[in-house]
Amino acid sequence: MKQLNIGVVGAAGKMGKELCHVINEAGHIPFLGMYNSKKPEGFNHTANHWQDKKTEEVDLWIDFSLPGAFDQAIVAMAKFKKPIVSGTTGISEAQKQLLFEAAKTVPVLWSSNMSVGVAFVNKLLSQFKDIKDFDFQIEELHHRNKKDAPSGTAKTMQENLESAIGKKVPPTLSVRGGGIFGVHRIWAMSDQEVITIEHQALNRKVFAEGALKAGLALLSKGPGLYSMKDIF
Ligand SMILES: NC(=O)c1ccc[n+]([C@@H]2O[C@H](COP(=O)([O-])OP(=O)(O)OC[C@H]3O[C@@H](n4cnc5c(N)ncnc54)[C@H](OP(=O)(O)O)[C@@H]3O)[C@@H](O)[C@H]2O)c1
Repeated sequence: MKQLNIGVVGAAGKMGKELCHVINEAGHIPFLGMYNSKKPEGFNHTANHWQDKKTEEVDLWIDFSLPGAFDQAIVAMAKFKKPIVSGTTGISEAQKQLLFEAAKTVPVLWSSNMSVGVAFVNKLLSQFKDIKDFDFQIEELHHRNKKDAPSGTAKTMQENLESAIGKKVPPTLSVRGGGIFGVHRIWAMSDQEVITIEHQALNRKVFAEGALKAGLALLSKGPGLYSMKDIF
């Protein structure tokens, strides 16, 4: 197996730290940690600007930063002609367009949730087409420091659910507190019965492992915008 030089944007953040761990465990190199104010630990090199020469040695980019960093990061990463995975949530429609632009020249995967379980739940949501008369509600719970609400995962679930049942669903209910890594619950309710589907992330590793797997899968793909559905 060729050891890959992996560049992580948002390397000093919670997900960046987890990625550093997961990249080492998988036998690859946490080569370059891109940061804003706080220097990340555990990376061979660190940089806080895109002119740094080490950026040219990166084989795969993984971005878990914040919407404020996204525009510059996606444009800069695409210039190196290497695959890009981004899990940054809370990005705007205009920022999503930047993903399409980058995907014209390199393989790009953006997902609001990198876990296999959530990819599976999103697939299940299409089945609600058979009971579209029920009332629906999505709930999401996250740790007290999560900045965006509703979560990107809940937004994706809402889009998938609405397209399956052909009607609008009330806005997602968001709860912030404690150290919850991520809970998403979909309710389907009639007068006689209630169905709930719940996904719980038990740690951050699930997202970091999913992002790395997705990135490795992109290495054999051509330019284009991919989703977790294409990978798993
Ligand atoms: N898709 C998924 O499966 C998934 C799972 C978990 C989290 N997320 C998302 O991933 C993102 C990061 O989550 P987190 O929990 O790791 O957040 P976090 O702990 O707040 O980390 C974000 C990091 O991004 C850094 N950053 C900001 N601007 C930057 C720039 N220009 N260049 C490089 N780094 C920059 C911040 O540095 P400073 O503090 O120095 O500004 C911080 O270290 C969020 O959008 C979150 O919602 C997605």
